[in-house]
Amino acid sequence: MKKIKSDISGFYKLSIGERQNLLKEYYNFNPEELKTLQNFGYFSHKQADSLIENVVGNYQLPMGIATNFRINDKDYLIPMVTEEPSVVAAASNAARIARKHGGFFCGEVKSVMFAQIQITGLKDDIKAKDQIINNKDEILRIANEQDPLLNKLGGGAFDIGIRPIVTKQGKILVLHLLVDVKDAMGANVVNTMAEAVSPYLEEICGGKIYLRILSNLAVERIATCQAIFDTELLGGKEVTEGIIKAYEFALADPFRATTHNKGIMNGISAVALATGNDTRAIEAGAHAYASIEGVYSPLTVFDIDEKGNLFGAIKLPMALGVIGGMTKNHPMARIALKILGVQSAEELSQVAAAVGLAQNLGALRALASEGIQKGHMKLHSYNIAKAAGAPDKFVEIIAKKMIEDQKIRVDYAKVLLQKLEKDENL
Ligand code: MEV
Repeated sequence: MKKIKSDISGFYKLSIGERQNLLKEYYNFNPEELKTLQNFGYFSHKQADSLIENVVGNYQLPMGIATNFRINDKDYLIPMVTEEPSVVAAASNAARIARKHGGFFCGEVKSVMFAQIQITGLKDDIKAKDQIINNKDEILRIANEQDPLLNKLGGGAFDIGIRPIVTKQGKILVLHLLVDVKDAMGANVVNTMAEAVSPYLEEICGGKIYLRILSNLAVERIATCQAIFDTELLGGKEVTEGIIKAYEFALADPFRATTHNKGIMNGISAVALATGNDTRAIEAGAHAYASIEGVYSPLTVFDIDEKGNLFGAIKLPMALGVIGGMTKNHPMARIALKILGVQSAEELSQVAAAVGLAQNLGALRALASEGIQKGHMKLHSYNIAKAAGAPDKFVEIIAKKMIEDQKIRVDYAKVLLQKLEKDENL
């Protein structure tokens, strides 16, 4: 194996094959590893190479379908891409429980994103503010010049907000440029508009502009969803009460609230990933929104209704698109969107909010009753068997034996594997 040298000049100029050859010299891949690296699945080299830089392989994850979802009186099969066992099953199960009382009911989601423009070095910030307000129409006109098609579709820049902020280096003005991005996630159009209006803003305010970028705390694009979960189907009064206690724990403790919200995002990120959306944008917005009142809190609420059933609701920013980004470039994202059959970014956001609520309910239900490990066992034990080096022919046998003996550990899987190999060689 060659000594690793990371300052490879011109790596980006090489073809995928050449980059793989270079890695081969460094890492001595065995034939199976090489085959995996060279298998691009449904991507052509050209497609992969045009998505990111320095491509050497195509990383794949499974896509599962969550069943039972009824959202705003319409049935959906929901594609989810995740590496985590139990996520798809838990969402489907929670959706089955919600179905008894009509499923999920989601509110309107406005497709409004905003850019932040950081105006510094102002001699007179009050005067600058007046200048911005007096020239609002011109600012919006310049912004809208950037995307006539969006205007034609009824979208575009439509308002501004001005926020004075005190930084370590003194007072600055932050201009928020509000844009109706329609069916896009919106980052591209919003950033383009922010950059386009900045020279004019400098001219009228006399300051210097640094950052011109979308905010991922998309407070103008909030998704809401609620459902009734039948107490009998949940497993009885004790389980429902356990879920309320779990919720109250999260409400009182940011350490628990973080894990509570992680469970929600298990579902939402899986839908975002399946549909070619930016999962980091969604995650950042969700977690920041969770602390918008000053204390990090759960993104869902739970209560017991007058009939003794569990009421659940979710509220969070949801910047998802059905056009632009990877939504149309990624062959599997296109299929995911076809399966979902959503007609707009708003509808996709409603679906994702429903999945988030279902996912949270599924996790809390398991935690408040049998614990989550039981549900994880089967798939988890397969993964442990594989991690212990078991060949395909032994994976199932080892996984079953580990569950039976309640010892789902790599060291035990290795013991079982050795025994099987020994028996085979007798
Ligand atoms: C694991 O990925 C998610 C959970 O930890 C969520 C929760 O604790 O609510 C089970």
